[in-house]
Amino acid sequence: MKDFKNKVVFITGGASGAGFGQAQIFSEAGAKVVIADVRDDHLATVKKYFDDKGAPAHVIKLDVTDRKGWAAAAEETEKTFGVPDVLVLTAGVNVFGPAEATTFDDYDWVMGVCLGGVINGLVTFVPKMIKAGGQRHIGATVSYGAFVAGATTAPYTAAKVAVLSLLESYWIALKPYNIGVTALCPANINSNIWDSALKTRPKELSNTGYNVTDKGQNFLASIHKNGMDPRVLANWLKEAIEEEQFLCLPYKHAEAMVRSEHQRWIDYTTPGGQKLVDIRPTLPKSKLDGEIMMEREGTSMMDAPPPVEGQEAPPVAFGNFDTGGFAMANANVDFVKEEKKYKA
Ligand SMILES: NC(=O)c1ccc[n+]([C@@H]2O[C@H](COP(=O)([O-])OP(=O)(O)OC[C@H]3O[C@@H](n4cnc5c(N)ncnc54)[C@H](O)[C@@H]3O)[C@@H](O)[C@H]2O)c1
Repeated sequence: MKDFKNKVVFITGGASGAGFGQAQIFSEAGAKVVIADVRDDHLATVKKYFDDKGAPAHVIKLDVTDRKGWAAAAEETEKTFGVPDVLVLTAGVNVFGPAEATTFDDYDWVMGVCLGGVINGLVTFVPKMIKAGGQRHIGATVSYGAFVAGATTAPYTAAKVAVLSLLESYWIALKPYNIGVTALCPANINSNIWDSALKTRPKELSNTGYNVTDKGQNFLASIHKNGMDPRVLANWLKEAIEEEQFLCLPYKHAEAMVRSEHQRWIDYTTPGGQKLVDIRPTLPKSKLDGEIMMEREGTSMMDAPPPVEGQEAPPVAFGNFDTGGFAMANANVDFVKEEKKYKA
């Protein structure tokens, strides 16, 4: 799809961060945008933004985990602008802590939004998009996290790996219908996701095993401040849709990144290789490693000096910083090792 003029672009999570960037860029390319989001404060901001511009945009309050809400949002969208030409599934949340401390609520909330929200969007809109005919596209904001193992990111990583796999299935399945699919896999974005655990998480799903406090979330905010500008990211998505590209890692070093992240799967296939998985992170980093880290995170790891070829690697992430207990367990989780718990 090369031309977005008068196209209908439906974006979940479109009222903040990556989704708002996407709404702006597609609107500027001439599209009519539908912004579906659960947060009233975010929706009010974007409504004002598009009203002030006089651009065709429609906001819908939608919790992507609510299937009845999806049916109603689809009906409202069709009545307002028509069946989406482009569906962008971006809504997401995050919260981090030791895998072993994860509660049912942690899984249900993170996977409900990040995976369930994508499934609900696909099941709601794919039949309508097929029936409407013509050239169409589905994009989803996955994450670079889909390629990276993490001891403190279990629900988030599991959701993102699953979304990437789902999208590949749909990419293959939807080719005969002239519907393209793009999996956008950014690393750090300058967004508001850091406040989701305290402000977006529903009360009925708030029994967490993780330390979730203002201090820890503010540390997370300081990481996201270095992230990619959402408008820059949205341009990567737009170009990927124009080129019918399935996988979009929005980085110059995309190929090297995927190659190095997947090396661990090759290593795991033999006992000797498996040892390398533990050793590799302790090895000196190359100049390319440093460039990749800067591209991904917008910083060479929490303001530690950038890695230099031939010199010892800098301390591992967070090693020298007061993280406010970010990604640690709740102090009251009685089975987790003491060093993994946050004691303020
Ligand atoms: N921030 C990052 O560094 C980063 C990195 C990789 C991928 N991502 C992904 O990018 C996507 C967008 O996140 P962001 O970083 O722009 O965060 P953000 O918080 O700025 O925007 C996400 C939007 O999704 C909405 N949302 C949350 N739960 C929802 C629900 N149940 N129903 C409907 N809307 C809901 C929020 O209200 C918010 O407006 C997410 O899928 C996230 O996992 C983010």
